[in-house]
Amino acid sequence: GVAAKIAPSMLSSDFANLASEAQRMLDCGADWLHMDIMDGYNLNSCLLQKPFILNYCKLVILFVLSLLLKLSWMVLLFENVVVILFLHFVPNLTIGAPVIESLRKHTKAYLDCHLMVTNPLDYVEPLGKAGASGFTFHVEVSRDNWGELVQRIKSKGMRPGVSLKPGTPIEEVYPLLARVMLSNRNMGIVVMYKAYVVHNLQVEGENPVEMVLVMTVEPGFGGQKFMPETMDKVRALRKKYPSLDIEVDGGLGPSTIDMAASAGANCIVAGSSVFGAPDSAQVISLLRKSVEE
Ligand code: DX5
Ligand code: ZN
Repeated sequence: GVAAKIAPSMLSSDFANLASEAQRMLDCGADWLHMDIMDGYNLNSCLLQKPFILNYCKLVILFVLSLLLKLSWMVLLFENVVVILFLHFVPNLTIGAPVIESLRKHTKAYLDCHLMVTNPLDYVEPLGKAGASGFTFHVEVSRDNWGELVQRIKSKGMRPGVSLKPGTPIEEVYPLLARVMLSNRNMGIVVMYKAYVVHNLQVEGENPVEMVLVMTVEPGFGGQKFMPETMDKVRALRKKYPSLDIEVDGGLGPSTIDMAASAGANCIVAGSSVFGAPDSAQVISLLRKSVEE
């Protein structure tokens, strides 16, 4: 099988002692350190409380103003609805490039960054400079610009990955894995598809992603319950791409790891199960054993 990578999620660590927590995880046998970068959307405050009303007023003012000024009010209205509804990706705020930069000064470890943000492109340059190793963005916010995004991630020396939320169908990431797909096709089909695929790859930047992160909880918080139904996606992906890195994230621990490992996941993110255990090293080795079996 594909090599196991156990990645404790530092979201469950003591942020005030990040460097020592990171070292503790490495000493416990961690391969990677999973870093959750979020952009802080708060649904309650945005839709129900004061900021929503302010946003709503702004919307009405803009609407009236644009009518008075005979501007294209549709555009303004749309822009504000977009800002209100889609400005942020998850209802939590965690860490950003400055923290990655600080941590990098204390460790050579592979920093597996998971970008739960609506504008991953804006994070490429700062995270590259900060010393991130992996850059996993969400397909839900990158449908239109993944080619450019992947190219830029690689040009900054990071390894690109794509993630999808529990409700997003696995087919959405297939276009980002074009080259892997090509190598899995039998030769006859390769010849038939070559002109088409090669052309597409050139258009898209000829840079497929190297890892798929299948979210096994709704992104946003640690300590949630593993969703077994997401395993169908892992199975489908593994069948199609035998050597791809497939990562799972959310609710993984001794009681759920076998489901993920048997479905074909090889990169395992685990936060609360590792940090909450009296013996983190034992949990890490248990996770590894399940993947390597
Ligand atoms: C959730 C994050 C996860 C989280 C996992 O949005 O992406 O990395 O920290 O934590 P556990 O393992 O506790 O579910
Ligand atoms: Zn994560």
